[in-house]
Formats: sequence, C-alpha cells, structure tokens
Amino acid sequence: MSYTIGFAGKGGTGKTTIASLVIRYLAEKRDCPVLAIDADPNANLGEMLGLEADETVVGVIDDISANIEKLPAGVTKERLIESRVQQSLGEGRGMDLLVMGRPEGPGCYCYPNSLLRGVIGKLQKAYKYIAIDNEAGLEHLSRRTDRSIDYLFIISDPTAYGIRSAKRVLDLAKDLKVSRGVNHLLINRVKDGIFPLEEEIKKVGAQRVDYLPESKIIMELSARGEPINKLDEDTELVRMIYKICEDAKWH
Ligand SMILES: Nc1ncnc2c1ncn2[C@@H]1O[C@H](COP(=O)(O)OP(=O)(O)O)[C@@H](O)[C@H]1O
Ligand SMILES: [Mg+2]
Repeated sequence: MSYTIGFAGKGGTGKTTIASLVIRYLAEKRDCPVLAIDADPNANLGEMLGLEADETVVGVIDDISANIEKLPAGVTKERLIESRVQQSLGEGRGMDLLVMGRPEGPGCYCYPNSLLRGVIGKLQKAYKYIAIDNEAGLEHLSRRTDRSIDYLFIISDPTAYGIRSAKRVLDLAKDLKVSRGVNHLLINRVKDGIFPLEEEIKKVGAQRVDYLPESKIIMELSARGEPINKLDEDTELVRMIYKICEDAKWH
C-alpha cells in the first residue's frame, strides 16, 4: 500500500513549489519511485518538476468519449481510459507525473475523479509514495482517492487571512474525512524570520507547524520559469523542506 501525501491551501501560497521539493526529496533520498499527481485544473506541477505528461486524465476521457464508436471490440471504455492514462505519465528519474487536467466549461470532476480512483488503485502497487498537489479547495479530494491522505500539508502565507483560510481548509479536510493521518501547517514566505501571529496559528489546531522563509532564489527561478531541480540542495528552503521530510518519518 502506498503512502499518500497531500498539499492543500489557498492559491498562490506555495503548494506547488513545496510539493515539488517534497517530491524531489522522495525521488532522491528514498529508494523508491513516487507518483506525482497534479490535481489543480491550472496545472503547473510538471513545469516545476521539469516533467511533462503526454495527455491529461480529462483529455483522455474526452477523446475516448468523443470516439466511442471506434472502440476496439471487447475493450471497455474504462479499461481503455485506464491504459491510456498509464501510458501518458510523464516519466522522470525516480518520479512519474499524472495530470488531471481541466474539465471543459462548468463540467464536474466526478467522472474523472471516480475513474482516477480506479487508476490510482492499480498504480498504488507500483509506487511507494503518491504526492497530490490539490486545487485550492478540497471538495473533490474525497471523491478522488479511495482512502484518506496519510500526511496533509496545509500551506499558508504569513498573514492572519492566510492562517484563517488554512483553518477552514483543515476543518474541511476533517469533515470530508480526507485527512485521518497527520496534518502539518506550513507558514510560507516568512520574511526576516519574524512571525508574530501565534494565537491565530494555535486556533488552526494543526498537529505540526513550521515556518519557511521567503526565498529570493525561488523567486528568481520562478521568474525564469525553470524547474525546481535547478536549485542547489544547499539552498535554505531546500534544506528546510528536506529536514521536514526527514522528521516526518514516512514509512
Ligand atoms: N518560500 C518562497 N519564497 C519565495 N517565493 C515563493 C516561495 N514559495 C512560493 N513562492 C512563489 O510564489 C508563487 C506561487 O507559488 P505556487 O507554489 O505556484 O503556489 P500555489 O501552488 O499554492 O498556487 C510562485 O511564483 C513561487 O515561486
Ligand atoms: Mg499550484
């Protein structure tokens, strides 16, 4: 059974940045492959990881549904979708990437999600770790995986608004029963090591809390649109995230 690590929080707080560094840690330091799932409709986990998936799950579903009359005899639509999704994975060193994609119009994610459950169920055997970079809300997550997230990171910016939003995300995760394992609040982009909102943080009720610095190197890297593996392991943010991963004791 693989171990599932999720990333949630308001848009722009650093979910994808932190997810890609955690994925890089797992791929480099643990001797087993990790499946990275980009579940944000505005997908950019691949760009940060320097990987590209051939197709998205939504794209595969739409294409097969539009060409249903051309299905080979004896193959179900679900089976075909599953195998094409597996073929579409972006492959990197120690990591593969699966991209959910964006449903057309106001379309719902229910069908792609229920399909993904089946796909993840099968892929689980091949990966010790699954890391899911989520959209800002968590509403879809309960339908997406057939079991809860083992370790949930909630990312916040260093403001009272951000922290209150993190509390709502964690409350929702508990209500939806997607997080029955450990939850860990990360206050990201703290400037000059100062962050005074302790009372606000306590109210979130997270089991673990850590602070991550604003990183000039990350800002420069993202301005150039370069992947995260260009960062030196000795960069402060990388060292801190690797330490968090070590301490998390994922089995
Ligand atoms: N610790 C940090 N220091 C500096 N810039 C950061 C940091 N974390 C994230 N960023 C920048 O903030 C922006 C949003 O980050 P991103 O990871 O895409 O957020 P999200 O996935 O939550 O929308 C990116 O340009 C990213 O480079
Ligand atoms: Mg993101």
